[in-house]
Amino acid sequence: EKVVLAYSGGLDTTTIIPWLKEHFDYDVVCCCIDCGQGNELDGLEERAKLSGASKLYIEDLVDDFAENYIVPCVQANATYENKYLLGTSMARPAIAKRLVEIARKEGAVAICHGATGKGNDQIRFELGIKALAPDIKIIAPWRMTDIWTLQSREDEIEYCKQHGIDLPFAADSSYSRDRNLWHISHEGLELENPANEPNYDHLLVLSNTPEKAPDEGEYVTMTFEKGVPTSVNGEKMKVADIIRKLNTLGGKHGIGIVDIVENRVVGMKSRGVYETPGGTILMEAHKQLEELVLDRATMEVKKEMGDKLAQVVYEGKWFTPLCDAIRAFVTSTQEYVTGEVKFKLYKGNIIKAGTTSPYSLYSESLASFTTGDLYDHHDADGFITLFGLPLKVRAMKMAELKKN
Ligand code: ARG
Ligand code: SIN
Repeated sequence: EKVVLAYSGGLDTTTIIPWLKEHFDYDVVCCCIDCGQGNELDGLEERAKLSGASKLYIEDLVDDFAENYIVPCVQANATYENKYLLGTSMARPAIAKRLVEIARKEGAVAICHGATGKGNDQIRFELGIKALAPDIKIIAPWRMTDIWTLQSREDEIEYCKQHGIDLPFAADSSYSRDRNLWHISHEGLELENPANEPNYDHLLVLSNTPEKAPDEGEYVTMTFEKGVPTSVNGEKMKVADIIRKLNTLGGKHGIGIVDIVENRVVGMKSRGVYETPGGTILMEAHKQLEELVLDRATMEVKKEMGDKLAQVVYEGKWFTPLCDAIRAFVTSTQEYVTGEVKFKLYKGNIIKAGTTSPYSLYSESLASFTTGDLYDHHDADGFITLFGLPLKVRAMKMAELKKN
């Protein structure tokens, strides 16, 4: 029988290979899913095979991730607890889906992942797998404390050595990081105490600190068609390339560094720093365009839907009827989200430099003080009388009660 292991090539998931063979007697099919984590894929094949895997899949999921997971979240302006742009959260269902596809192809009976029992990722992987393949068994070594007894990186290195696997893993642990096309997250070390300032010079991977960013601002333009990003600086590109390009620009100017204490699904608060340079620019541009083209009532409900989607995605409920329904609502709001946005990037700031759309609802003649046909100042008299009626009635009542 076979198990599909979500494999990163790191010490944790490498250790799981001999452990699975020892405790379950499965053939281990490793699956490394590339959502844009950069160069961490070098040397993976040898590493997996050396560690006893029978097969390694390296799956390029970058475009699927960009088009089918990132774009819907951008369109919803989905932001968890007002700050987190969900980089890790939205990658997990994409990964779960591919793991299930490979498990089916291989006829595997189980899927194994290396997320800990304290985190969100275990929930996202497992809810994704359950929704797509309810018959597949899930193995989460970190929660099987009776047979997974390794407590530290040193323990894992020792366990690997005992099983004939001698690989160059550093014993010292750095931040717990998760990187993909959209972001990189950092947790652990000094961040575990919210009283500490992050050691940014040591921590940042994609970005300059604003102090180190250029003293000159830089303009960037982006276009959207029906809420889908289509170009940067006049150059048409696929979504993944747009994000890459914006990551470079945003990183250079120190955009999108967020320090948050967030509420995990499992109940605890955790402190993390996120770098989302391109994503922050892209989402801000999308919001800027929506300001022009969406009517107020739609915008209000859309904000609620976006917040709800953020929670749904954070909690790993991508493959659910609720997620589908919210996405359908959001898609219908994007019909006229077409146009161009210009920003100046400067030392951690996004400065608005003009927005245009053929569907703009903004009317200069309506907004300016010169009187036109559409708007008669006198109409505001009656409007305010009715609009203010309830509060006037209440104020009269209060005055009457005070007298008695
Ligand atoms: N706290 C973030 C989230 O829940 C980031 C998790 C990072 N995951 C990781 N395996 N380091 O989405
Ligand atoms: C983990 O515990 O595996 C990473 C952190 C998280 O999932 O929230």
